[in-house]
Amino acid sequence: MEEKKKEENGFEPKIVGFCCNWCSYAAADLAGISRLKYPPNIRIIRVPCTGKVDPLYILKAFELGADGVFLAGCMEGECHYLTGNLYARDRIERLKRDLEKVGLGGRLEMFFMSAAMGKEFAEATTDLTEKIKKMGPSPLRGG
Ligand code: FES
Repeated sequence: MEEKKKEENGFEPKIVGFCCNWCSYAAADLAGISRLKYPPNIRIIRVPCTGKVDPLYILKAFELGADGVFLAGCMEGECHYLTGNLYARDRIERLKRDLEKVGLGGRLEMFFMSAAMGKEFAEATTDLTEKIKKMGPSPLRGG
């Protein structure tokens, strides 16, 4: 029992973030430049637009051992490709429902932010990391 508790306390989740080049990637950069702390558990994949993120990329990230995944795109109405983030939002909502059915519910999030929102990026990724820590490792981890 004690060992299980110790194992849970030491759990460091792997979180993959697909970040839009025009907004959230810059927000992450701003967070770094501003010396705002956000968890080192985040692995950022820079994408031209969240509309480019195929749900298969997200499923692949889970298959490869991610404990959590997020998409971070431009604010609604500010996507450089007009509606890419809106398509992404709809896909994510559908995928969330499907993930719920296979035991991965709560492990996928989408954020909307501008390049000036470094503080919000740090807060959102910190909150997500804490949430995933409480949930424990993904059931797909370790094959
Ligand atoms: Fe940023 Fe589309 S260009 S989400």
